[in-house]
Amino acid sequence: MAVIAKNNPNIKVTIVDINQERINAWNDSDTSNLPIYEPGLAGIVEETRGKNLFFSTEIDKAIDESEMIFISVNTPTKTYGKGKGMAADLKYVELCARNIAKVAKTDKIVVEKSTLPVRTAQAIKSILDNTGSDVNFSILSNPEFLAEGTAIQDLLNPDRVLIGGESEEAIESLASIYGSWVPESQILRTNVWSSELSKLTANAFLAQRISSINAISELCEKTEANVDEVAKAIGMDSRIGSKFLKSSVGFGGSCFQKDILNLVYIARSYNLQAVADYWEQVITLNNHQKRRFADNLISTLYNTVSGKKIGFLGWAFKKDTNDTRESAAIYVADHLLNEQAHIAVYDPKVSSVKIQSDLNYLNTRSEDENKRLIEAKDSPYEALNDAHAVAIMTEWDEFKTYDWHKIYTKMKKPAFIFDGRNILDQSKMEKIGFDYYSIGK
Ligand code: UGA
Repeated sequence: MAVIAKNNPNIKVTIVDINQERINAWNDSDTSNLPIYEPGLAGIVEETRGKNLFFSTEIDKAIDESEMIFISVNTPTKTYGKGKGMAADLKYVELCARNIAKVAKTDKIVVEKSTLPVRTAQAIKSILDNTGSDVNFSILSNPEFLAEGTAIQDLLNPDRVLIGGESEEAIESLASIYGSWVPESQILRTNVWSSELSKLTANAFLAQRISSINAISELCEKTEANVDEVAKAIGMDSRIGSKFLKSSVGFGGSCFQKDILNLVYIARSYNLQAVADYWEQVITLNNHQKRRFADNLISTLYNTVSGKKIGFLGWAFKKDTNDTRESAAIYVADHLLNEQAHIAVYDPKVSSVKIQSDLNYLNTRSEDENKRLIEAKDSPYEALNDAHAVAIMTEWDEFKTYDWHKIYTKMKKPAFIFDGRNILDQSKMEKIGFDYYSIGK
């Protein structure tokens, strides 16, 4: 919305949320306190806020005044009832639709921005069409393809903008907003269902590439092939392409797993078992990759990590973000804590409170136990002091520039590095004296 406001100074954009604390943070005059860390975002918020970008908790007023409303609430995996653990929970989307239906007195274009299962527009439409009033609603699907950490760049230069809908007038109205900075050839118009399904499919294909290369990484470790070399070799085939072939400790983030589970659930609901099984394997392999990283660490440390200090570099699910949702670090830590390891974490952007709440959410052990076994440190050197091993969980650039000689002297010997992101230089680390393990080599 900030990028839309920046590129459309004549359009008033109001962001509303029920959470007063969040809205206050978005209105904080010190932009370093914004709730989301994203390179370039603070500058754009500063430039537009108070001019044509506003943050408020006055939801009904904003609905009443708007001509176009984006529903951008979360659609987490259901944690209860039918479809538990698989289907998307549409509770919040439905609440938004009902609120719009209740308040609107003039015609509105309602845009699905949240990632939704195919045919959700139908549900929104049926709620909006049964208000008893003569207000007209046009529903559009406009999925978001930005990735965290590069959100602003992705928004300023999108590969494509996708708009699905029935009403040509509504589609063109939204297209003209994007048209103020996105070339016309990159604005794609489809029917609503293709648009909804394209979003899930794009994420499923991206995640599938990571699981594919991660599957090969395990084979590389057995055959003395090098996964980075294999990735480069196959990526030079223009039909395959070089992006998204970085082997890792496993993908995380709020989207990939949720969207694939959702795709699997939809396929099963149409009784398409082979389709469902096919996509489910992407998740199975990803869980395997996280697990095998933790198992490898334990077996290398002489089959026990009980009472040993393991330093984690990184907790976020990828670099340049403070988002930790579904981060591989959480699951690897949980497994090591089951083996009674002591973990000290350093992440440049993630707080101690967040780390504790991520683990508490898993409910594997008591909150006190988590507090006793894992702690966040303010500096990497503190986190690695006296550690038996370093586990690199996120590919933050700064990890490459640390004084690894100094870290080595402060660690227990033999000093192990488990590089879950393949970001350090193996020969340099071995020259310093580390026992260095990476993925797929
Ligand atoms: C992903 C998609 O890339 C976006 O296009 C999409 O809009 C977004 O989900 C969404 O649905 O909201 P995001 O989850 O922010 O974006 O980040 P990615 O860059 O896709 O990374 C996801 C995970 O895969 C991270 O844990 C990352 O470290 C991992 N990854 C990525 C790899 O392990 N290897 C790679 O080669 C690339």
